[in-house]
Amino acid sequence: MEQKTKINLTIDEKEIEVEEGATVLETARQNDIEIPTLCYHPALSNWGGCRLCVVEVDGSPKLVASCVMPVREGMEVVTSNERIINARRTVLEFIFSERNHFCMFCAQSGDCELQSLAYELQMDHLTVPQSFEEFPTDITNEYMAIDHSRCVLCGRCVRACHEIAGAFVINFQNRGPESLIGFDFNASKGESTCLNCGVCMQVCPTGAIYSRYRAHYAVKGHKKEDWEIVESFCPQCGLMCETVTTVVNNNIVKIEGKLQDDASRPDHGQLCYAGRFEPLKSNGKRLLKPMVKGANGTWEEESWDITLDLLAKKMNSIAKDGKGEGVFGLVSSRCSNEELMLFRDLMAKGWAGGFTDTLDGSYHRTIYDASRANGNSLNEASWKLIPESDCLIVVSADPGRSQPVISSLLRRTVLENGVKLIVIGQEDTLSPWSSYFIPVGKGNEAQLLKALWAETVNSIVPPDHIKYWKAVSDEAEGVSVSELIQNCGLSEVAAQDFHEAAKVYAASSNPMLIAGEDLIDHNESSGLKEVMKLAKLKDLLPGETLRLIILKPNGNSSGAWTLNLASNNKANGDKWRGGMILLGDEDISGSEFIDSIDELEFLAVVSPYFPEALADKAHILIPKPLSMEENGSYTSLDGLAVCLKKKILQAPEGVKETWQTMMELTNRTDFNPDYSTWTELVRKALDEMKSLFPNRT
Ligand code: FES
Repeated sequence: MEQKTKINLTIDEKEIEVEEGATVLETARQNDIEIPTLCYHPALSNWGGCRLCVVEVDGSPKLVASCVMPVREGMEVVTSNERIINARRTVLEFIFSERNHFCMFCAQSGDCELQSLAYELQMDHLTVPQSFEEFPTDITNEYMAIDHSRCVLCGRCVRACHEIAGAFVINFQNRGPESLIGFDFNASKGESTCLNCGVCMQVCPTGAIYSRYRAHYAVKGHKKEDWEIVESFCPQCGLMCETVTTVVNNNIVKIEGKLQDDASRPDHGQLCYAGRFEPLKSNGKRLLKPMVKGANGTWEEESWDITLDLLAKKMNSIAKDGKGEGVFGLVSSRCSNEELMLFRDLMAKGWAGGFTDTLDGSYHRTIYDASRANGNSLNEASWKLIPESDCLIVVSADPGRSQPVISSLLRRTVLENGVKLIVIGQEDTLSPWSSYFIPVGKGNEAQLLKALWAETVNSIVPPDHIKYWKAVSDEAEGVSVSELIQNCGLSEVAAQDFHEAAKVYAASSNPMLIAGEDLIDHNESSGLKEVMKLAKLKDLLPGETLRLIILKPNGNSSGAWTLNLASNNKANGDKWRGGMILLGDEDISGSEFIDSIDELEFLAVVSPYFPEALADKAHILIPKPLSMEENGSYTSLDGLAVCLKKKILQAPEGVKETWQTMMELTNRTDFNPDYSTWTELVRKALDEMKSLFPNRT
């Protein structure tokens, strides 16, 4: 590795050695010398706009902004004297005079960098006249509000939107005193193309961009010293984005991404709307006590023991009487690996259950079919490899909806590396970042992908590494590309994009394909099989890994499928009969499975919320903590990593942890698991996963 030249300098008479290229501010902070800043943010490029960070260099009469000043040999820096403090206070006074910074009306008061700077510099009045216009507050967005009167035009949100989200939605508009941050071309935030990732809000140093879920949180009688910070990760979509959650009195104040420049996380610690805001929403009435449906159909609260006895007795009798179809389990793949494994074992070994399935619909069946056709031995690629790719093909996916952090990564890869992005699907979900868009209606994907495969084969230089190339080219010769693209109804323009896209893919040496929910949520797997075939035209990545990322429907779908919880026996629309336990999470109320449970003999629902949509079909309801209220391990989207998520909140009093509920039910059956404590359960789940995928971390 190239050794950087060392620079020697003094800061406040302290002798310091630092690598060439560092700024004065970074060097000072590395050496515990504090310099106030406003427009600077460690996760963003340096801008030098506010001048709060001025310092004196070599006694020069001109103060310089330390955040953009590179170090040089022999430099003598002074970070604080009367002249510097006066300059900073003047800068701050002008900032305060230019907008309506009356803290008592501000949603962010108590958690505001501008307010803290004023206290730090002991600014108790203004010596310059106030001159601000009235600016509107934009409340058109569901998650965030924009109060332009609090904006200091530091540009952090602009840079974050470009450099982290890759969205380029926010920019400056107007001139002079009328300068504002704007969304797209003067759209409201709600109408703009903003993806609601909230990174602008996270880096905003004032109350200009604030959460609509937690306005005034910092002054509601809470002292900042009482805030508890919990580091964990978001379990919503399988990317395991790292989170820093602020909690007060068992309430979430805010969830932030762990913004960083870390090569292991090419997303730079970004979060999406789901990780940042969704846990702050309430999804209905919490279920706090077990409930049993009485003879007249009304719900009555009951003790845990009586409810679990009743449930176990009913399931034991359904399992033993040999009539009907036995006992089934249906589970949300938002549950942790431990919950999933214990639930599976309870169903299979406790009640000899017919089978256990997830609420993921037909996704697993499609992937299972397609991977069997490919020899079962190919691993999926990690989403972290996207920035290294030289060609990206997105098929039937809208990652902005399902995995927004992947969508950011795609945009940034296009912008930063000039990579060609090919989008295939019903709509161009990545416009205007896509270079080629090939429209294809639902059900026609397999034909179009087959045509793309054949066209690629025809324009590729025969590679040595594909041993079966002769067979491949013979097969491609038998494919009529023109007929297939005609069947798919491609216009002349789309057909041109198709041919160009095939050339780009053929010429690429490190491509990546991303298959999305619209391709996988079919009852048949031909489209996915064709994507896999297309990916196999390029050499595999290490570890027999296909150049393919498959977007999954839920945060722990990979875990559930690995633990064999996804059944391939029931087709969509088949009716369930017998007894069922539904282990849900926040996701059960709107699920499509509801129509298939009309003929059940007995239904018990384990859920954090009162399940309104299931209330007339269920017989027993059992409360469950939210995923934020439980520890548990999750498996990443690519299936390659298993990480333990920390509990962030305490569950309401009296609500048992899910694994305890399952264990108490297990104790009411003939099944004797070889684990009984939480630690043993974690170990067991991990061992099982490792035995199936030895390369897991
Ligand atoms: Fe250095 Fe703003 S923090 S100029």
